Amino acid sequence: MISEYLTPPQVELFQRLPRCDQRHGLDVFYALQRKQQHDRDLLVAALLHDAGKSEGRLRLWHRVLIVLINALRPELLSRLASDEPCSWRYPFFVHQQHPELGAELAQAACCSLVAVELIRRHQEPSASSPFRTHQDELLAALQEADGVN
Ligand SMILES: [Fe+2]
Ligand SMILES: [Fe+2]
Repeated sequence: MISEYLTPPQVELFQRLPRCDQRHGLDVFYALQRKQQHDRDLLVAALLHDAGKSEGRLRLWHRVLIVLINALRPELLSRLASDEPCSWRYPFFVHQQHPELGAELAQAACCSLVAVELIRRHQEPSASSPFRTHQDELLAALQEADGVN
């Protein structure tokens, strides 16, 4: 089914994600479809928006700790993150950088420019400007579906 939206290299990228992130991508994808969002770039971005997490060895305890730190002392996360791949702190770096890392992976898998930009921007604070571009509208839809799934 997702192969209707993703090319084989993009399916491969999706399948590199841990099961829980695959499930989450599908939930976001279906939530958008239920809202009559049929833009192809948006649906591709929904499936792959967290693709950057595939490299990170993000275990459950990292995820729990990230939620806790985000709630208590969000500024600590930057200090905890290390871009040294062998470090135990690397998963925190991957979590923090996953929009950019995911955008690079999506670009390498030949996703459209719009899908790549949506992935890159999906954790941006949502803009409330009345002058929203079409891409901003798609981003808002993605963020809304991401937030509740
Ligand atoms: Fe994300
Ligand atoms: Fe997400």
